[in-house]
Amino acid sequence: AVQTWAFNGQVPGPEIRIRAGELVRVEVLNELPQPLTIHWHGIAIVNEMDGVPGLTQQPIAPGAAFVYEFTAPDPGTYFYHPHTGTQLDTGLYAPLIVEDPAEAGRYDREITLMLDDWIDGIGGSPDEVLERLQGGGSEMEGMEGMEGMEGMEDMPGMGTGQAAEVTMGAATGARTSEGPLGDDTGDVDYPLYVVNGRPPTDPPVFDVGLGEQVRLRLVNAGSDTPFRVAVRGSDLTVVATDGFPVSPTRTDAILLGMGERYDAVVTIDAEGVFPLVAEAESKGGRALAVLRTGAGPLPGPEVDVPELRGRLLGPEDLSATAETSLPAGRPDRTYELALTGDMAAYRWGIEVVGGGELSVQQGERVRLVLDNRTSMWHPIHLHGTTFQVLAPGGVAGPRKDTVIVPASGRVAIEFIADNPGRWALHCHNIYHAEAGMQTVLTVAP
Ligand code: C2O
Ligand code: CU
Repeated sequence: AVQTWAFNGQVPGPEIRIRAGELVRVEVLNELPQPLTIHWHGIAIVNEMDGVPGLTQQPIAPGAAFVYEFTAPDPGTYFYHPHTGTQLDTGLYAPLIVEDPAEAGRYDREITLMLDDWIDGIGGSPDEVLERLQGGGSEMEGMEGMEGMEGMEDMPGMGTGQAAEVTMGAATGARTSEGPLGDDTGDVDYPLYVVNGRPPTDPPVFDVGLGEQVRLRLVNAGSDTPFRVAVRGSDLTVVATDGFPVSPTRTDAILLGMGERYDAVVTIDAEGVFPLVAEAESKGGRALAVLRTGAGPLPGPEVDVPELRGRLLGPEDLSATAETSLPAGRPDRTYELALTGDMAAYRWGIEVVGGGELSVQQGERVRLVLDNRTSMWHPIHLHGTTFQVLAPGGVAGPRKDTVIVPASGRVAIEFIADNPGRWALHCHNIYHAEAGMQTVLTVAP
Protein backbone atom coordinates (compact mmCIF):
# COMPACT_ATOMS: atom_id res chain seq x y z
CA ALA A 1 0.00 0.00 0.00
CA VAL A 2 1.26 3.46 -0.88
CA GLN A 3 -0.06 6.96 -0.60
CA THR A 4 -0.66 8.51 -3.99
CA TRP A 5 -3.08 10.64 -5.99
CA ALA A 6 -5.79 8.93 -7.98
CA PHE A 7 -9.06 9.40 -9.86
CA ASN A 8 -12.00 8.36 -7.67
CA GLY A 9 -9.61 6.64 -5.28
CA GLN A 10 -8.48 3.89 -7.67
CA VAL A 11 -5.38 3.13 -9.77
CA PRO A 12 -5.76 3.07 -12.71
CA GLY A 13 -8.70 5.46 -12.56
CA PRO A 14 -12.16 4.55 -13.82
CA GLU A 15 -12.29 3.44 -17.44
CA ILE A 16 -14.25 5.69 -19.76
CA ARG A 17 -15.76 3.65 -22.57
CA ILE A 18 -17.74 5.26 -25.35
CA ARG A 19 -18.58 4.75 -28.99
CA ALA A 20 -17.02 6.88 -31.67
CA GLY A 21 -19.06 10.00 -32.29
CA GLU A 22 -20.73 10.02 -28.88
CA LEU A 23 -20.68 13.11 -26.72
CA VAL A 24 -18.74 12.64 -23.48
CA ARG A 25 -19.17 14.76 -20.42
CA VAL A 26 -16.71 14.43 -17.52
CA GLU A 27 -16.97 16.48 -14.39
CA VAL A 28 -13.65 16.92 -12.59
CA LEU A 29 -13.71 17.92 -8.93
CA ASN A 30 -10.22 18.78 -7.82
CA GLU A 31 -9.71 17.55 -4.27
CA LEU A 32 -5.92 17.72 -4.58
CA PRO A 33 -3.75 20.40 -2.97
CA GLN A 34 -2.45 21.41 -6.43
CA PRO A 35 -4.18 22.79 -9.52
CA LEU A 36 -4.62 20.35 -12.40
CA THR A 37 -6.05 19.85 -15.87
CA ILE A 38 -7.03 16.62 -17.61
CA HIS A 39 -5.81 15.69 -21.08
CA TRP A 40 -7.57 13.12 -23.26
CA HIS A 41 -4.46 11.67 -24.80
CA GLY A 42 -4.64 10.91 -28.51
CA ILE A 43 -8.18 12.13 -29.11
CA ALA A 44 -8.67 14.72 -31.83
CA ILE A 45 -10.67 16.98 -29.57
CA VAL A 46 -11.82 20.61 -29.75
CA ASN A 47 -8.98 22.80 -28.56
CA GLU A 48 -10.63 24.24 -25.45
CA MET A 49 -11.21 20.72 -24.04
CA ASP A 50 -7.64 19.50 -24.57
CA GLY A 51 -6.57 20.16 -20.99
CA VAL A 52 -3.26 21.97 -21.34
CA PRO A 53 -2.88 24.63 -18.62
CA GLY A 54 -2.03 28.11 -19.83
CA LEU A 55 -2.61 27.05 -23.43
CA THR A 56 -6.17 25.74 -23.70
CA GLN A 57 -7.58 26.51 -20.24
CA GLN A 58 -6.80 27.84 -16.79
CA PRO A 59 -5.87 25.04 -14.38
CA ILE A 60 -8.64 23.77 -12.11
CA ALA A 61 -7.80 25.19 -8.67
CA PRO A 62 -7.89 23.04 -5.54
CA GLY A 63 -11.52 22.75 -4.50
CA ALA A 64 -12.80 23.85 -7.90
CA ALA A 65 -14.61 21.89 -10.62
CA PHE A 66 -14.50 21.84 -14.41
CA VAL A 67 -16.67 20.07 -16.94
CA TYR A 68 -15.06 18.59 -20.02
CA GLU A 69 -17.34 17.89 -22.94
CA PHE A 70 -16.22 16.47 -26.26
CA THR A 71 -16.87 13.93 -28.96
CA ALA A 72 -14.25 11.34 -29.80
CA PRO A 73 -14.23 10.93 -33.57
CA ASP A 74 -11.94 7.92 -33.90
CA PRO A 75 -12.28 4.49 -32.30
CA GLY A 76 -9.32 3.06 -30.44
CA THR A 77 -7.30 2.75 -27.27
CA TYR A 78 -6.61 6.04 -25.50
CA PHE A 79 -6.06 7.22 -21.95
CA TYR A 80 -6.51 10.28 -19.81
CA HIS A 81 -4.10 11.88 -17.40
CA PRO A 82 -3.32 15.25 -15.84
CA HIS A 83 -1.28 17.71 -17.88
CA THR A 84 0.07 19.66 -14.96
CA GLY A 85 3.60 19.38 -13.61
CA THR A 86 4.76 15.88 -12.77
CA GLN A 87 1.30 14.62 -11.77
CA LEU A 88 1.33 11.92 -14.44
CA ASP A 89 3.87 10.08 -12.28
CA THR A 90 1.32 9.63 -9.49
CA GLY A 91 -1.64 7.23 -9.81
CA LEU A 92 -3.51 9.78 -11.94
CA TYR A 93 -4.13 7.88 -15.19
CA ALA A 94 -6.95 5.81 -16.62
CA PRO A 95 -8.04 4.10 -19.85
CA LEU A 96 -10.33 5.77 -22.36
CA ILE A 97 -11.67 3.25 -24.85
CA VAL A 98 -13.53 4.40 -27.95
CA GLU A 99 -15.44 1.54 -29.48
CA ASP A 100 -16.07 1.24 -33.17
CA PRO A 101 -19.81 1.06 -33.88
CA ALA A 102 -18.92 -0.67 -37.17
CA GLU A 103 -16.58 -3.24 -35.70
CA ALA A 104 -17.42 -6.74 -36.78
CA GLY A 105 -16.64 -8.24 -33.36
CA ARG A 106 -13.53 -10.03 -34.48
CA TYR A 107 -12.32 -10.66 -30.94
CA ASP A 108 -13.70 -12.97 -28.29
CA ARG A 109 -12.46 -10.89 -25.41
CA GLU A 110 -10.43 -7.82 -24.67
CA ILE A 111 -8.11 -6.90 -21.83
CA THR A 112 -6.76 -3.42 -21.08
CA LEU A 113 -3.28 -3.36 -19.56
CA MET A 114 -1.92 -0.10 -18.23
CA LEU A 115 1.83 -0.25 -17.73
CA ASP A 116 3.43 2.13 -15.27
CA ASP A 117 6.68 2.93 -13.53
CA TRP A 118 6.10 3.59 -9.87
CA ILE A 119 7.93 5.74 -7.33
CA ASP A 120 5.25 7.89 -5.65
CA GLY A 121 4.93 7.08 -1.97
CA ILE A 122 8.01 4.81 -2.09
CA GLY A 123 10.98 6.88 -3.23
CA GLY A 124 9.64 10.39 -2.84
CA SER A 125 7.04 12.35 -4.77
CA PRO A 126 7.43 13.05 -8.50
CA ASP A 127 8.17 16.70 -7.67
CA GLU A 128 11.04 15.57 -5.45
CA VAL A 129 12.29 13.33 -8.26
CA LEU A 130 12.34 16.30 -10.63
CA GLU A 131 14.15 18.41 -8.06
CA ARG A 132 16.80 15.72 -7.64
CA LEU A 133 17.20 15.42 -11.41
CA GLN A 134 17.61 19.15 -11.78
CA GLY A 135 20.08 19.12 -8.94
CA GLY A 136 22.19 16.23 -10.14
CA GLY A 137 21.44 14.92 -13.62
CA SER A 138 20.45 11.33 -14.32
CA GLU A 139 19.32 9.23 -11.44
CA MET A 140 20.24 6.09 -13.35
CA GLU A 141 23.90 6.71 -14.13
CA GLY A 142 26.65 9.16 -13.76
CA MET A 143 26.06 9.93 -10.12
CA GLU A 144 29.42 8.50 -9.15
CA GLY A 145 31.99 11.07 -8.25
CA MET A 146 29.56 13.95 -8.09
CA GLU A 147 30.26 16.43 -5.31
CA GLY A 148 27.96 16.42 -2.36
CA MET A 149 26.03 13.35 -3.47
CA GLU A 150 27.55 10.89 -0.98
CA GLY A 151 25.04 8.71 0.76
CA MET A 152 22.28 9.37 -1.75
CA GLU A 153 22.66 5.93 -3.22
CA ASP A 154 20.81 4.63 -0.18
CA MET A 155 17.70 6.45 -1.25
CA PRO A 156 15.33 4.57 -3.51
CA GLY A 157 15.29 6.17 -6.89
CA MET A 158 18.75 7.64 -6.42
CA GLY A 159 20.78 4.51 -6.94
CA THR A 160 23.72 3.63 -9.06
CA GLY A 161 23.32 0.45 -11.08
CA GLN A 162 24.13 -1.74 -8.09
CA ALA A 163 21.97 0.10 -5.65
CA ALA A 164 19.20 -0.13 -8.18
CA GLU A 165 19.17 -3.89 -7.97
CA VAL A 166 18.97 -3.70 -4.21
CA THR A 167 16.07 -1.28 -4.26
CA MET A 168 14.28 -3.21 -6.99
CA GLY A 169 12.66 -5.53 -4.49
CA ALA A 170 10.27 -7.59 -6.53
CA ALA A 171 11.46 -6.12 -9.81
CA THR A 172 13.95 -8.49 -11.32
CA GLY A 173 16.29 -9.20 -14.14
CA ALA A 174 19.62 -7.92 -15.26
CA ARG A 175 19.89 -4.87 -17.46
CA THR A 176 19.23 -5.92 -21.00
CA SER A 177 21.98 -5.55 -23.53
CA GLU A 178 21.75 -2.63 -25.88
CA GLY A 179 18.32 -2.52 -27.53
CA PRO A 180 16.80 -0.20 -30.12
CA LEU A 181 16.63 2.65 -27.62
CA GLY A 182 20.23 2.35 -26.47
CA ASP A 183 21.43 1.83 -22.93
CA ASP A 184 20.27 5.14 -21.53
CA THR A 185 16.52 4.62 -21.65
CA GLY A 186 15.47 6.65 -18.62
CA ASP A 187 16.54 9.08 -15.93
CA VAL A 188 14.61 7.72 -12.96
CA ASP A 189 15.46 4.53 -11.13
CA TYR A 190 11.99 3.26 -10.26
CA PRO A 191 11.62 0.88 -7.34
CA LEU A 192 8.57 -0.76 -8.91
CA TYR A 193 6.79 -1.44 -12.20
CA VAL A 194 3.09 -2.22 -12.28
CA VAL A 195 0.34 -3.51 -14.57
CA ASN A 196 -3.08 -2.08 -13.73
CA GLY A 197 -1.65 -0.84 -10.45
CA ARG A 198 -0.38 -4.24 -9.29
CA PRO A 199 3.22 -5.24 -8.55
CA PRO A 200 4.77 -8.37 -10.13
CA THR A 201 4.56 -10.21 -6.82
CA ASP A 202 0.77 -9.90 -6.95
CA PRO A 203 -0.05 -9.69 -10.66
CA PRO A 204 -3.46 -9.21 -12.24
CA VAL A 205 -4.79 -12.57 -13.49
CA PHE A 206 -7.13 -12.83 -16.48
CA ASP A 207 -9.07 -15.96 -17.27
CA VAL A 208 -9.26 -16.49 -21.02
CA GLY A 209 -10.69 -19.30 -23.09
CA LEU A 210 -8.60 -21.86 -24.91
CA GLY A 211 -8.09 -20.73 -28.50
CA GLU A 212 -9.90 -17.44 -27.97
CA GLN A 213 -8.87 -14.32 -29.86
CA VAL A 214 -7.90 -12.00 -27.02
CA ARG A 215 -7.36 -8.37 -27.89
CA LEU A 216 -4.81 -6.77 -25.58
CA ARG A 217 -5.04 -3.01 -25.27
CA LEU A 218 -1.58 -2.02 -24.07
CA VAL A 219 -1.03 1.49 -22.73
CA ASN A 220 2.31 2.85 -21.53
CA ALA A 221 1.21 5.25 -18.79
CA GLY A 222 4.73 5.49 -17.40
CA SER A 223 6.61 8.74 -17.02
CA ASP A 224 10.19 7.71 -17.79
CA THR A 225 10.13 4.02 -18.83
CA PRO A 226 9.79 2.25 -22.17
CA PHE A 227 8.27 -1.23 -21.77
CA ARG A 228 8.98 -4.36 -23.83
CA VAL A 229 5.97 -6.67 -23.72
CA ALA A 230 5.70 -10.37 -24.57
CA VAL A 231 3.56 -13.38 -23.66
CA ARG A 232 5.18 -16.70 -22.93
CA GLY A 233 4.33 -19.31 -25.52
CA SER A 234 2.53 -17.07 -28.02
CA ASP A 235 3.26 -14.53 -30.63
CA LEU A 236 1.30 -11.30 -30.89
CA THR A 237 -0.55 -9.85 -33.86
CA VAL A 238 -0.47 -6.07 -33.76
CA VAL A 239 -3.72 -4.67 -35.14
CA ALA A 240 -3.56 -1.02 -34.09
CA THR A 241 -1.29 1.57 -32.56
CA ASP A 242 -2.33 4.81 -30.89
CA GLY A 243 -5.92 3.95 -31.71
CA PHE A 244 -5.48 3.56 -35.46
CA PRO A 245 -5.54 0.22 -37.32
CA VAL A 246 -2.41 -1.12 -38.98
CA SER A 247 -2.06 -4.03 -41.38
CA PRO A 248 -2.04 -6.95 -38.93
CA THR A 249 1.59 -7.80 -38.18
CA ARG A 250 3.02 -10.68 -36.20
CA THR A 251 5.76 -10.25 -33.66
CA ASP A 252 7.12 -11.79 -30.49
CA ALA A 253 7.53 -8.58 -28.51
CA ILE A 254 6.31 -4.99 -28.64
CA LEU A 255 8.19 -1.95 -27.41
CA LEU A 256 6.07 0.93 -26.11
CA GLY A 257 7.34 4.41 -25.33
CA MET A 258 5.53 6.54 -22.79
CA GLY A 259 2.18 7.66 -24.19
CA GLU A 260 2.09 4.97 -26.90
CA ARG A 261 -0.61 2.34 -27.17
CA TYR A 262 -0.63 -0.96 -29.04
CA ASP A 263 -3.56 -3.28 -29.66
CA ALA A 264 -2.44 -6.84 -30.22
CA VAL A 265 -4.31 -10.11 -30.56
CA VAL A 266 -3.05 -13.15 -28.72
CA THR A 267 -4.42 -16.68 -28.84
CA ILE A 268 -3.47 -19.26 -26.26
CA ASP A 269 -3.74 -22.79 -27.54
CA ALA A 270 -2.64 -24.70 -24.47
CA GLU A 271 -4.10 -25.17 -21.04
CA GLY A 272 -2.28 -23.50 -18.22
CA VAL A 273 -0.99 -20.24 -16.87
CA PHE A 274 0.88 -17.83 -19.17
CA PRO A 275 2.90 -14.84 -18.02
CA LEU A 276 2.71 -11.54 -19.85
CA VAL A 277 5.82 -9.60 -18.95
CA ALA A 278 6.38 -5.87 -19.47
CA GLU A 279 10.09 -5.40 -19.07
CA ALA A 280 11.38 -1.92 -18.27
CA GLU A 281 13.65 -1.61 -21.32
CA SER A 282 17.31 -1.54 -20.27
CA LYS A 283 16.34 -0.62 -16.74
CA GLY A 284 16.40 -4.02 -15.09
CA GLY A 285 12.87 -4.29 -13.73
CA ARG A 286 9.58 -5.66 -14.90
CA ALA A 287 5.85 -5.70 -14.49
CA LEU A 288 3.76 -8.85 -14.80
CA ALA A 289 0.25 -9.98 -15.68
CA VAL A 290 -1.07 -13.51 -16.11
CA LEU A 291 -3.32 -15.03 -18.77
CA ARG A 292 -4.93 -18.26 -17.54
CA THR A 293 -6.58 -20.97 -19.60
CA GLY A 294 -6.27 -23.72 -17.00
CA ALA A 295 -4.98 -24.69 -13.60
CA GLY A 296 -1.43 -24.19 -12.44
CA PRO A 297 0.64 -22.19 -10.01
CA LEU A 298 1.04 -18.50 -10.80
CA PRO A 299 4.43 -17.55 -12.27
CA GLY A 300 6.78 -15.51 -10.15
CA PRO A 301 8.23 -12.14 -11.15
CA GLU A 302 11.39 -13.78 -12.53
CA VAL A 303 9.62 -16.15 -14.90
CA ASP A 304 11.49 -16.66 -18.15
CA VAL A 305 9.74 -15.36 -21.25
CA PRO A 306 11.96 -16.17 -24.25
CA GLU A 307 9.71 -14.13 -26.56
CA LEU A 308 11.13 -10.97 -24.96
CA ARG A 309 14.32 -11.74 -26.92
CA GLY A 310 12.48 -12.70 -30.10
CA ARG A 311 11.27 -10.57 -33.01
CA LEU A 312 10.68 -6.97 -31.97
CA LEU A 313 8.66 -4.66 -34.19
CA GLY A 314 10.34 -1.54 -35.40
CA PRO A 315 8.37 1.43 -36.75
CA GLU A 316 9.29 0.40 -40.30
CA ASP A 317 7.53 -2.93 -39.81
CA LEU A 318 4.09 -1.39 -39.41
CA SER A 319 1.99 0.18 -42.10
CA ALA A 320 -1.29 2.02 -41.98
CA THR A 321 -4.31 0.34 -43.50
CA ALA A 322 -5.62 1.86 -46.71
CA GLU A 323 -8.44 3.58 -44.81
CA THR A 324 -6.15 5.19 -42.24
CA SER A 325 -3.34 6.19 -44.57
CA LEU A 326 -3.11 9.87 -45.56
CA PRO A 327 -4.03 10.46 -49.20
CA ALA A 328 -1.06 10.68 -51.53
CA GLY A 329 0.35 14.18 -51.76
CA ARG A 330 3.18 16.52 -51.03
CA PRO A 331 3.49 18.62 -47.89
CA ASP A 332 2.46 22.28 -48.13
CA ARG A 333 4.87 23.09 -45.34
CA THR A 334 7.84 21.39 -43.72
CA TYR A 335 9.43 22.18 -40.41
CA GLU A 336 12.53 20.68 -38.95
CA LEU A 337 12.56 20.45 -35.17
CA ALA A 338 15.68 19.86 -33.10
CA LEU A 339 15.40 17.88 -29.89
CA THR A 340 18.08 19.20 -27.58
CA GLY A 341 19.37 18.33 -24.14
CA ASP A 342 21.88 19.15 -21.49
CA MET A 343 21.99 16.25 -19.09
CA ALA A 344 24.27 17.93 -16.57
CA ALA A 345 21.95 20.90 -16.18
CA TYR A 346 18.91 18.67 -16.77
CA ARG A 347 17.53 20.96 -19.45
CA TRP A 348 15.69 19.61 -22.46
CA GLY A 349 14.32 21.44 -25.47
CA ILE A 350 12.47 21.27 -28.76
CA GLU A 351 13.23 24.08 -31.22
CA VAL A 352 12.31 25.04 -34.75
CA VAL A 353 15.51 24.77 -36.78
CA GLY A 354 16.12 28.20 -38.28
CA GLY A 355 13.99 29.88 -35.63
CA GLY A 356 10.44 31.18 -35.67
CA GLU A 357 7.14 29.74 -34.58
CA LEU A 358 5.54 26.46 -35.49
CA SER A 359 2.47 27.83 -37.23
CA VAL A 360 0.38 26.44 -40.06
CA GLN A 361 -2.95 27.09 -41.77
CA GLN A 362 -5.92 24.85 -41.30
CA GLY A 363 -6.14 22.37 -44.15
CA GLU A 364 -2.45 22.36 -44.92
CA ARG A 365 -0.52 19.15 -45.18
CA VAL A 366 2.38 19.52 -42.79
CA ARG A 367 5.60 17.57 -42.47
CA LEU A 368 7.64 17.70 -39.28
CA VAL A 369 11.16 16.30 -39.26
CA LEU A 370 12.21 15.47 -35.70
CA ASP A 371 15.97 15.61 -35.41
CA ASN A 372 17.19 14.16 -32.13
CA ARG A 373 20.45 15.87 -31.22
CA THR A 374 20.66 14.19 -27.83
CA SER A 375 22.08 10.85 -26.81
CA MET A 376 18.76 9.72 -25.40
CA TRP A 377 15.56 8.57 -27.14
CA HIS A 378 12.35 10.63 -26.83
CA PRO A 379 8.67 9.69 -27.31
CA ILE A 380 7.28 12.78 -29.04
CA HIS A 381 3.55 13.42 -28.71
CA LEU A 382 1.38 15.80 -30.74
CA HIS A 383 -1.99 16.97 -29.49
CA GLY A 384 -5.07 17.63 -31.60
CA THR A 385 -4.44 15.38 -34.59
CA THR A 386 -2.77 12.14 -35.49
CA PHE A 387 0.09 11.97 -37.92
CA GLN A 388 1.43 9.36 -40.26
CA VAL A 389 4.96 8.17 -39.67
CA LEU A 390 6.98 8.30 -42.88
CA ALA A 391 8.79 5.02 -42.59
CA PRO A 392 12.10 4.62 -44.40
CA GLY A 393 11.80 3.76 -48.07
CA GLY A 394 8.64 5.81 -48.57
CA VAL A 395 6.47 3.23 -46.83
CA ALA A 396 3.21 4.60 -45.45
CA GLY A 397 3.91 4.00 -41.79
CA PRO A 398 1.33 3.83 -39.02
CA ARG A 399 -0.99 6.63 -37.96
CA LYS A 400 0.09 7.66 -34.48
CA ASP A 401 0.05 10.48 -31.96
CA THR A 402 3.24 9.50 -30.13
CA VAL A 403 6.40 8.42 -31.92
CA ILE A 404 9.74 7.17 -30.68
CA VAL A 405 12.68 9.25 -31.92
CA PRO A 406 15.82 7.20 -31.25
CA ALA A 407 18.98 8.75 -29.82
CA SER A 408 20.69 10.80 -32.55
CA GLY A 409 17.94 9.64 -34.93
CA ARG A 410 15.57 11.43 -37.28
CA VAL A 411 11.88 10.70 -37.75
CA ALA A 412 9.56 12.41 -40.23
CA ILE A 413 5.81 12.65 -39.66
CA GLU A 414 3.01 14.11 -41.75
CA PHE A 415 -0.52 15.22 -41.00
CA ILE A 416 -3.38 17.29 -42.33
CA ALA A 417 -3.78 20.28 -40.01
CA ASP A 418 -7.56 19.99 -39.83
CA ASN A 419 -8.09 20.88 -36.18
CA PRO A 420 -7.63 24.59 -35.43
CA GLY A 421 -6.11 25.75 -32.18
CA ARG A 422 -2.90 25.93 -30.23
CA TRP A 423 -1.64 22.42 -29.63
CA ALA A 424 1.03 21.07 -27.36
CA LEU A 425 3.90 19.12 -28.92
CA HIS A 426 6.21 17.56 -26.39
CA CYS A 427 8.27 14.67 -25.12
CA HIS A 428 6.11 12.22 -23.17
CA ASN A 429 8.92 11.66 -20.72
CA ILE A 430 7.24 13.80 -18.09
CA TYR A 431 10.56 14.89 -16.60
CA HIS A 432 11.88 15.94 -20.02
CA ALA A 433 8.67 17.85 -20.73
CA GLU A 434 8.85 19.61 -17.39
CA ALA A 435 12.51 20.42 -18.02
CA GLY A 436 11.66 22.17 -21.30
CA MET A 437 11.02 19.64 -24.07
CA GLN A 438 7.70 21.08 -25.14
CA THR A 439 6.49 23.56 -27.70
CA VAL A 440 3.28 24.73 -29.37
CA LEU A 441 1.92 24.06 -32.85
CA THR A 442 -0.57 26.71 -33.95
CA VAL A 443 -3.16 25.70 -36.53
CA ALA A 444 -4.71 28.99 -37.68
CA PRO A 445 -8.29 28.75 -38.93
CU1 C2O B 1 -0.32 12.34 -22.80
CU2 C2O B 1 0.54 16.20 -23.74
O1 C2O B 1 0.11 14.24 -23.21
CU1 CU C 1 12.46 13.16 -23.84
